[in-house]
Amino acid sequence: MSAEILDGKELSKKIKENLKNEVDKLKEQGINPKLAVIMVGDNSASAVYVKNKSNACKKVGIDFEEFLLPEETTEDELIELIEKLNVDNTVDGILLQSPVPNHININRAFETISPKKDVDGFNAVNVGNLTIGRDCFVSCTPYGVMRMLEEYNIDVAGKTAVVIGRSNIVGKPMLQCLLSKDATVTICHSKTKNLEEVVSKADIVIAAIGKPNFVTGNMIKDGAVVIDVGINRLEDGKLCGDVNFEEASQKASYITPVPGGVGPMTVAMLVENVVKAAKQK
Ligand code: GUN
Repeated sequence: MSAEILDGKELSKKIKENLKNEVDKLKEQGINPKLAVIMVGDNSASAVYVKNKSNACKKVGIDFEEFLLPEETTEDELIELIEKLNVDNTVDGILLQSPVPNHININRAFETISPKKDVDGFNAVNVGNLTIGRDCFVSCTPYGVMRMLEEYNIDVAGKTAVVIGRSNIVGKPMLQCLLSKDATVTICHSKTKNLEEVVSKADIVIAAIGKPNFVTGNMIKDGAVVIDVGINRLEDGKLCGDVNFEEASQKASYITPVPGGVGPMTVAMLVENVVKAAKQK
């Protein structure tokens, strides 16, 4: 079998075009959506992510303000900025790019972001609401994965889904999203025994562990749907995912490429969350 590609690049373009129409209409009503992004210290990967987010916002007509804070910024100074943005009526969404320097407790910072402006869906209020099935801001990567499955008419109800990775940003919210659509979900992580065997039984495999080519062809069941959340840079500068694409695409029914799969969907979902925040204001 040779898998069909889940084209996140193309799909995200379509989503952003629709969002642009929506933003145009909001502007006619005097609503100007705006995202504030905070980055603390220098991190070249974060700088690339933030640039992508900024470009996407600009394309859709969303105002974007970047706060580039020096490495030595204290936790209290960061909290003060977030509190200022929380009460700034011109700001609809606030995003603190992770990682931050070690002297800052990022959880305290995430908790300070108003749940109404938490377009990353990292605040405990949004995480809790996702868990109990209430409307909330959903973490953009799992949200993007779900949207992609939906757009390609891949029904997850009753399917076995294995998520590899248990991060707060991807693995845990991914579990909740799949569960809310009636999948039977297992999370694998570094301590999982017989991980290969568990993965090889899955109808849907979501790889989010940050290890290049970790998921090999022998771990994929014939006809499985394979979603690769990983973005790893190899020594030769090339990007590669957590899945060995060449091998897995021979077994899967659908697969996401890296780049051009989940990455652009994550950014599109962020933009969608900002539009949602602006509409709810
Ligand atoms: N760092 C890596 N991914 C993300 C993300 O989606 N949001 C934020 N805020 N930081 C990140």
